[in-house]
Amino acid sequence: MEALAAVSHETGKMGIEKIDVAEPKTGEIAVKMVACGVCHTDAAGLHQIFPVPFPAVYGHEGVGIVDKVGDNVTNVAVGDRVVMTFPSCGVCPSCVDGHPYACDRMLELFWGGRLPDGTTPYSQDGVPVSTFFGQGSFSTYTVVQARNVVKVDIDSDEELANLCSLGCGVQTGVGAVLHGLKAEPHGSIAVFGAGGVGMAAIMGAKLAGCYPIIAVDVVPSRLELAKEIGATHTVNGKEVDAVEEIRKITNGGAHYSVESSAVPALTLQALDCLRKRGKACQVSVTGPATIELPIEPLILSKNVTYFGLAEGASNPPVFIPELVAYYKQGRLPVDKLVTLYDFKDIDKAFEDSHTGVAIKPILVF
Ligand SMILES: NC(=O)c1ccc[n+]([C@@H]2O[C@H](COP(=O)([O-])OP(=O)(O)OC[C@H]3O[C@@H](n4cnc5c(N)ncnc54)[C@H](O)[C@@H]3O)[C@@H](O)[C@H]2O)c1
Ligand SMILES: [Zn+2]
Ligand SMILES: [Zn+2]
Repeated sequence: MEALAAVSHETGKMGIEKIDVAEPKTGEIAVKMVACGVCHTDAAGLHQIFPVPFPAVYGHEGVGIVDKVGDNVTNVAVGDRVVMTFPSCGVCPSCVDGHPYACDRMLELFWGGRLPDGTTPYSQDGVPVSTFFGQGSFSTYTVVQARNVVKVDIDSDEELANLCSLGCGVQTGVGAVLHGLKAEPHGSIAVFGAGGVGMAAIMGAKLAGCYPIIAVDVVPSRLELAKEIGATHTVNGKEVDAVEEIRKITNGGAHYSVESSAVPALTLQALDCLRKRGKACQVSVTGPATIELPIEPLILSKNVTYFGLAEGASNPPVFIPELVAYYKQGRLPVDKLVTLYDFKDIDKAFEDSHTGVAIKPILVF
């Protein structure tokens, strides 16, 4: 099968080119793509923050319609509308235990450009082309592991396009609050970075019944929208000392914080803004350099918890249908984050994500 994909042959550049897509093998499905979200992690891939072998097709928030199924596929059938999500091996202890986000092969399957069996469905003139997060969904057609997708009960392609980021950014943000922090009602929370992931964390905080919900960003329009979707307070980190402001709003410090800005210095702020027994969850990918955290001799007196979390500790076949239900009830207004772009305008979508014009650019095929 031939498809059109955004192929990257060098750091920072993509062009729409023809690729060949192999037939689905055992346990795999072919998907005719409807739309794909742009997540900050695609930009990290494009800029080779972690090396993905060239040539490569990025994209890991795809939605589409199942076109073919390989042998031994039982979770979806031809014609189903699906949300694609992150890959996992399915056989390591974490996968078997229902925690595929902590798969032993996670980094390799996210960034290594190959499916778990070491192959890629993509090629150009017989030369293998990398996929990304087992999806490579900046393509009109793809082949993925069936366990990488979740069937969703949605009636139209237009509506399906709104749900692209359920497979990554939304489950990451909502899951950070519900599964990672296990936020309790009335707990105070500060979310650093009101991008696609941070906005989802704010929605998650509202679902959990948190108060106050404080959004920290440097783009005024994002802070405005944060208020619309659930933030009770906003802090512009460019104008004020965010930690001091959060301490004021929360009477001494937040119970919870989420770092989703990917600005390394904000990791420290996400810790500093906590009250005693507070918990900070790092979801952003700050790059290969190590962030140094000063640990005081009496750190024990603070009794705080700091942890990193992949994909919102999501078990997608369980969590994605829950998120769809929240969306249908109007309690997860992800459509408010969406700006649609024609697939050919992918560079513009990346640029608008980078400059803050668009929170969740969605490429439509
Ligand atoms: N843990 C995971 O599994 C997972 C999943 C998806 C994305 N991510 C990562 O999460 C991060 C966020 O992704 P995204 O798609 O929401 O990115 P994004 O670029 O949409 O959001 C980042 C936000 O941070 C804000 N920001 C920038 N500088 C700031 C500052 N100094 N103070 C406050 N805010 C500032 C930006 O204005 C923007 O709104 C990225 O690092 C991405 O790679 C992680
Ligand atoms: Zn695994
Ligand atoms: Zn992502």
